[in-house]
Amino acid sequence: MGKIILTGDRPTGKLHLGHYVGSLKRRVELQNSGEYEKIFIMIADAQALTDNADNPEKVRQNIIEVALDYLSVGLDPAKSHLFIQSQITELTEMTFYFMNLVTVSRLQRNPTVKAEIQLRNFEASIPVGFFCYPISQASDITAFRATTVPVGEDQEPMIEQTREIVRKFNAVYGETLVEPEILLPDNEVCRRLPGTDGKAKMSKSLGNCIYLSDPEKVVREKVMSMYTDPLHIKVSDPGHLEGNTVFTYLEAFSRPEHFAEYLPEYQNLQELKDHYTRGGLGDMKVKKFLNHVLQEELAPIRARRHEFEKDIPGVYRILKEGCDAAREVASVTMADMKRAMKIDYFEDENLIAEQAKQYMGE
Ligand code: TRP
Repeated sequence: MGKIILTGDRPTGKLHLGHYVGSLKRRVELQNSGEYEKIFIMIADAQALTDNADNPEKVRQNIIEVALDYLSVGLDPAKSHLFIQSQITELTEMTFYFMNLVTVSRLQRNPTVKAEIQLRNFEASIPVGFFCYPISQASDITAFRATTVPVGEDQEPMIEQTREIVRKFNAVYGETLVEPEILLPDNEVCRRLPGTDGKAKMSKSLGNCIYLSDPEKVVREKVMSMYTDPLHIKVSDPGHLEGNTVFTYLEAFSRPEHFAEYLPEYQNLQELKDHYTRGGLGDMKVKKFLNHVLQEELAPIRARRHEFEKDIPGVYRILKEGCDAAREVASVTMADMKRAMKIDYFEDENLIAEQAKQYMGE
């Protein structure tokens, strides 16, 4: 059997560099590797509603933003099905049955859910739907019989929970579902890109993001005001690399070719780091270099976005076609699950014939 990818994002805002290095860039590489039989990329609107139930307009408006971000980074609808979660009703149906296989205490132990409950100040008033979203995420993955889930590190507990549900389902009802593997970025710094303010995570709610759709000028301004080393006051002072966001970003984005092009006094990042820690290298110079590096990465993304922005109805057509393709696959899995769970009454002629026989008194 071929390898299948499923992954996705919540449509609660535009996608940023953290999403890009953590997952999007990898998805495009995997897509173009030709190693995958099928690829499904999902806009998780139903999951977004689990903590935005009172703000449906936000979710609705961000569908197109995420779709444009997907297309602009190079996800290609001819190779990857881009679709919207809520339009595949099988996903909610599966979730209902998976709920029987998970305990409340297991959900309470999920580290991602724990952290998010704190972040949103839910504490005592957690919506049931939000609490159960790891189960719904298991449906998203298993409905497509995904073997591979490329996501950021924060999603690890979700994939683990999915694997448990699959094992449990297969043990109780017979071998039906596929256990997926997580695929994390190889480069350690890409797993959790810090925000421009140096905080551990780039996140919309912290206001420390560089968005894929930011204009050139905005990216430059954000880079120039980035957090570096607060002890590096004079250029001649020795600088520190630990927690220095500019260097973390260079770690994630720069390549030796960038040095040849924009900063030929240095061969590579190590030489730049050495000079910085020795002292005598100013933050401005490093930031200007980072700006060049990021602009080079973002320019083609921005250009592609502008093209797709000219045809919004076309983008919705892509999503609709993606939904149709996704539904077709999910409905086969759903039928297999129903057969395994013995709730396929009208499809099972044996059942009807046997009960008929029984009642004929044979
Ligand atoms: N939880 C993911 C996020 O917050 C989105 C998501 C929903 C997802 N279902 C998924 C990711 C299935 C991978 C696989 O970004």
